Amino acid sequence: MENTPRVEKTPSASTLTRLIRSRRTVYAFKPERAPRDALDRALDAARWAPNHRLTEPWHFYVLGPETAEAVCALNAQLVERKKGPKAAADKLARWRTMPGWAVVTCQNSPDPIQAREDYGACCCAVQNLMLCLWAEGIGSKWNTGGVIRDPGFYDLIWADPAVETVVALLWYGYPAEVPTTQRKALAEVCVDLP
Ligand SMILES: Cc1cc2nc3c(=O)[nH]c(=O)nc-3n(C[C@H](O)[C@H](O)[C@H](O)COP(=O)(O)O)c2cc1C
Repeated sequence: MENTPRVEKTPSASTLTRLIRSRRTVYAFKPERAPRDALDRALDAARWAPNHRLTEPWHFYVLGPETAEAVCALNAQLVERKKGPKAAADKLARWRTMPGWAVVTCQNSPDPIQAREDYGACCCAVQNLMLCLWAEGIGSKWNTGGVIRDPGFYDLIWADPAVETVVALLWYGYPAEVPTTQRKALAEVCVDLP
């Protein structure tokens, strides 16, 4: 029927389940950059996340090499202040190995309930993004370390902290290794009510 919305069939429910279950946070990447069109497909899918009142509260920033290097340097400065020069140099060297960089922000809201719902929506968008990358063999890591709260970080991504808040600094690229992780048994976290 013409006006009936079409529900697209996914390849199979088990494919989706396998994708969700197999995605892991990747901590070590191969040096080559993932193709920009794969990132664009993932960003495009990210914005189809559920969002209450259709606020579409997300913004995405794709960091080029200059910005990524500036973020590495800023992070190293912060680490140096807390842990000294050796820790900072180690961190700088590690961060410089990350092949792809993106940031997801959430627009601020004066209403605390809306702000919470918008943050939830942005987290759904991040998960969409990470899963779509994973479907193309590209791993990612969601970072929320201190650097994302530093005012200098906002300057580097041309964002105004009065307007939006960083939800995720994402590294992405082809995994050098895929870690394993565990989850509690479903029975421990799920209650069946009468
Ligand atoms: C909101 C959020 C923030 C996170 N921040 C960090 C982080 O700063 N550093 C980190 O190593 N992992 C971070 N992670 C990744 C989690 O550590 C990871 O998802 C968890 O260990 C489970 O592993 P998995 O993603 O492979 O299932 C974050 C995840 C979420 C959802």
